[in-house]
Amino acid sequence: MAPEVKYTKLFINNEWVDAKSGKTFDTLSPHDGSVIATVPEGDKPDIDLAVSAAKAAFHRNSEWRLLDASARGRLLNKFADLFERDLAYLSELESYDNGMVLTMTYGFMSRAVNTIRYLASLADKIQGDTIPADGDLFSYTLKQPIGVCGLILPWNVPILMFINKVVTALAAGCTVVVKPAEQTPLTALALAALIKEAGIPAGVVNVVTGYGPGAGTSLTHHPDVAKISFTGSAEVGKLIQQAAGKVNLKRVTLELGGKSPLIIMDDADLNVAVPAAAYGVFTHQGQICIAASRLFVQAGIYDKFVEKAVEFAKNRKVGHPNDSDTEQGPQIDDEMMNKVLGYINKGKQEGAKLLTGGNRIGTTGYYIEPTVFADVKDDMIIAKEEIFGPVQSILKFDNLEEALERANNTSYGLAAGIFTNNINNALQFAKHSEAGTVWVNNYLNGSVQLPFGGFKESGLGRENGVSCVDAYLEVKTVAITLPKKF
Ligand code: NAI
Ligand code: MG
Repeated sequence: MAPEVKYTKLFINNEWVDAKSGKTFDTLSPHDGSVIATVPEGDKPDIDLAVSAAKAAFHRNSEWRLLDASARGRLLNKFADLFERDLAYLSELESYDNGMVLTMTYGFMSRAVNTIRYLASLADKIQGDTIPADGDLFSYTLKQPIGVCGLILPWNVPILMFINKVVTALAAGCTVVVKPAEQTPLTALALAALIKEAGIPAGVVNVVTGYGPGAGTSLTHHPDVAKISFTGSAEVGKLIQQAAGKVNLKRVTLELGGKSPLIIMDDADLNVAVPAAAYGVFTHQGQICIAASRLFVQAGIYDKFVEKAVEFAKNRKVGHPNDSDTEQGPQIDDEMMNKVLGYINKGKQEGAKLLTGGNRIGTTGYYIEPTVFADVKDDMIIAKEEIFGPVQSILKFDNLEEALERANNTSYGLAAGIFTNNINNALQFAKHSEAGTVWVNNYLNGSVQLPFGGFKESGLGRENGVSCVDAYLEVKTVAITLPKKF
C-alpha cells in the first residue's frame, strides 16, 4: 500500500505555505509514472521569504543563537528520536517517491539515524586554539557559524543528503534553506515536520520545493546566503561555483559525480570480488555517485571474471521496489532512463561487447535490465562519462602500473577500489589513486565517521568525519595586547 503523503507545501518559518505564484508541479512514481503528489513550485519570492526567515533566525540575539552548544546537540538528538520513531514511514515515503528498493531503504534509514546522532554530537566540540603569537599578544581563535546556508539536494538518496547537509549545518549553528530535487520533494517536507516537532526554532530550517533554474538559482544568487552546499551533477556544480562569486562570495561545498575505477588483480578472490564489483555498480540501479563504473580486470582472470559477472547480473531480480525479493528497482524518471539507454546504444555502436541486458523492461515505469559490457576501451563514451544506471563496463589490463595510470586518467576523482591479496599493490594503489575514497578488498563501504568527497571535478570539500562542521564555520582570530612582562 502507498504511504500517505502528509506534507505538500513549502515550509517557511515553521509555517506550511503555498508558492507566492500559486504554481505547482507533480512528483511522479518511478514505478509507473503516475502522479503521487503535487507540491508548490517555489521561485524567487519564496526563496526571498525563506532566506529572510533564516536570516532572522541567525540574528545574534535569536533563540537559536543564544542556545548553549550542547542544547543544539540535544535538539538534534530529539530530531534523531523522532526520525527513529517514524523510520518505517520515512523509508516507505522515500522508496515511493524515489524508486529505491524498500529493503535497502530501511538500511539507509538506520544509517541516517546514526548519522544524525554522530553529527549532533559535534555541536559542543567546536573548539578554537590559543596561539603563541609573536609580540605582546594573547591570541586565540573562535570558530563561528557562517550564517544562512543554501542546501541543494539531489534525487538519488534524498533523506541521507538532507541529513548530511542540514544536521551538519545546524550542529555548526547555521540556519538553512533547503531546495530538494524536483523529482523527490516529499521526504524533505516530512523531515521539516520533524524538525518543527523537535522544537528547533522557527526559521532555522526552511524547505522550498521547486526547480533548479528558479528556486535553485535564486538561492545561489541570493546576497544574504553565505554558503551553498550542493550534491548533484558536475555540470551544475560548476554553475553553482560561478553563481557563488556573482553577488557576494559564498562558501561552497560540492559533492559531484564520478567515473570511479575498481581494479581486480589476478590474485583476488573471485567469490568476493565478483559480487562486490556488481553491487558497486548495480546498487540503487546504478544511481550512486560512487558507482564502480570502470571495472579494470587483470588479464590472467579476465575471461573467468567476465563469465561470472555476466552470470551475476543475469540473476539479479528486477521488480517492484516493495517486493521483498527485489534487488533492482526503476530508474528515477523517463529522462534518466532514456539517458542510460542512450549510453547503452553508444556502447554498442562503439564496439563494446554487450553480454547481457541492454534493454528497457516493459513499457510502464522506468526499469532497465542489469547490463554488462566487456572489452570496453578507455576512449569509449561509456568509459568516460557518468552513466548513472545499471551498466557494468569491464576493461582489461596487464599490470598495476598501467591500471593506475588509466584509472587516474579522468577529470573525476570521487572513489576508487582494488581487490588484491598483495599488500604492496594495495598500499601503492591507495597512495597514488586520485580519489577522495579508496577501498581495498571491499567497495561502497561508507560510514559517517569517514570523510567523504572528491578530488578534481568530483567536488570541493568533505562531508562526514569530525572535521565536517568546519565547512560551516568561519575562523575568527582574536589578538589581545598583554605584555609578556608583568
Ligand atoms: P542536477 O545537478 O541538475 O540536479 C541536482 C540538484 O540541483 C537538483 O535539486 C536541481 O533542481 C538543482 N539544480 C539544477 N540546476 C541548478 C542550477 N542551475 N542552480 C541551482 N540548482 C540547480 O542533476 P540531474 O539533472 O538530476 O542529473 C543529471 C546527472 O547528474 C545524472 O545523470 C548524474 O550523472 C548526476 N547526478 C549526480 C548525483 C550525485 O550523487 N553526485 C546525484 C544526482 C545526479
Ligand atoms: Mg539537471
